[in-house]
Amino acid sequence: MSTAVILGAAIALPFLIKWYITGSKGPARTTQIPQSQERIVVIGASSGIGSELARIYAHRKAHVVLVARRMELLQQLVQELRPVAGSVHAVQGDVTLPEDVRRITIESLKALEGGIDTLIICAGIISVLPFAELAGIDLSTTDADGESKGYDDLVPTNAQEALDAATKIMNVNYHAPLNLTTHFLPALKRTSVAGNIIVVSSMAGKIGAPTRSIYCASKHAAQGFFESLGMEVEKLGIHVGIVSPGTVATDLRQSAVDLPTSEMSSATASASSEPPKKIAGTKKGAMTARACAEGIIQCSDTRQHEAIMPWFYHASLALQIISPGLVRWLAKKKYGYL
Ligand SMILES: NC(=O)c1ccc[n+]([C@@H]2O[C@H](COP(=O)([O-])OP(=O)(O)OC[C@H]3O[C@@H](n4cnc5c(N)ncnc54)[C@H](OP(=O)(O)O)[C@@H]3O)[C@@H](O)[C@H]2O)c1
Repeated sequence: MSTAVILGAAIALPFLIKWYITGSKGPARTTQIPQSQERIVVIGASSGIGSELARIYAHRKAHVVLVARRMELLQQLVQELRPVAGSVHAVQGDVTLPEDVRRITIESLKALEGGIDTLIICAGIISVLPFAELAGIDLSTTDADGESKGYDDLVPTNAQEALDAATKIMNVNYHAPLNLTTHFLPALKRTSVAGNIIVVSSMAGKIGAPTRSIYCASKHAAQGFFESLGMEVEKLGIHVGIVSPGTVATDLRQSAVDLPTSEMSSATASASSEPPKKIAGTKKGAMTARACAEGIIQCSDTRQHEAIMPWFYHASLALQIISPGLVRWLAKKKYGYL
C-alpha cells in the first residue's frame, strides 16, 4: 500500500469516527417546533422508559398522548402530569390489534386537536430462555446405546410453543411498529412542519445474544424496516430515528413471552443487579430509564438517524467489524455461555 493511501486513511479516520458516532444530525428541530408546541404520541407509556419520556415532555409543557394497555397506570400518569404539561391524555389500546391501532390513531389525533409532530414507538416485549429450552428440546441426552426408540423422541415436544412465542414477540416488536407507522404517517406528513418517527429498538437489534434469540430477531427486523423507511420518507420531510439502548433498569423482563407467569414476578427484580433464577444476563451497570429517555428525546430534537446508548456500545459495533469473534465472546460472557 502506498504511503499516500496510508496518509489519506490516517487523515480521514478521525472524521469517519466522528461521522459514525454523531450520524447525520440535522439542525435542532426545536427551532422549528418550540418545545411547548410539540405534539407527541408515546406508544408504551405506562411504565419504564415510556413513562419517563412522558414526564420529560410534560415538563417541557408539550402536548402528550400516552398509549398502552394498562389504563390505570396511564391514568395515574395523567394525574401526575396534568399540572405541568401543555396537555396530557391517555388512550388505552393493544398495538397488536389492528382495530385498536386505528382507534388509537384517531383518538390521539383528536386529543392533539388534529395534528402530530412526534410519534415515539417504545412498546416492546422480551424473551429470556435459550431457544432449545423454549422449544422443549433436551440437548443433554444422547442415544449412545444405539437402541431405537422410534421417532417421537427425535421430535421436540414444545415446537408450537416456540413458534407462538416468536409470533407474539414479532407482533409487538415488529408488526405493531410497522402498523402504527402506516396509520400515523399521513398525519405526520400533513400536520407537522418536521414530523418525527422515533423507534426504541435495542442493542439486541444490532448484535445477537444467547437466551435472547427471538427478541433479537424481532428487533433486527424492526431495525431493517425503519432504516429503509427513513431513507424513503426523508424526501417528504419526515425523519426516522432508531434508538438502540443497552440494558436499562426497568421491569421489561416481566413481559417475557417465554416465562411461565409464576416466574415473571421474580423476573422483575429491577432494583437488584442479580438476575433471578432462569434469567441469564445481569442488570449490573444498567442505564436508568430516565437517562435512556433523555437520550431518546435528544435523538428526536436533533433528528439523529441512529442513537446508540450508552456511548461505549459504539465500540462494540466497531469491534463487530474488526473482531467479530471478540464480540461473540463478550456476548457469551454477559449471558453466562462461556
Ligand atoms: N429495559 C431494557 O433493558 C431495554 C433495553 C433496550 C431496549 N429496550 C426497549 O425499550 C422499550 C421499552 O421497554 P421498557 O424497558 O421500558 O419496559 P416496560 O416497562 O416493560 O415497558 C414496555 C411498554 O410497552 C407497552 N406494551 C407492551 N405490549 C404492548 C401492547 N401489546 N400494546 C400496547 N402497549 C404495549 C407496555 O404497556 P402495557 O403493558 O400497559 O400495555 C409498557 O408501557 C422496549 O421496546 C424494549 O425492547 C429496553
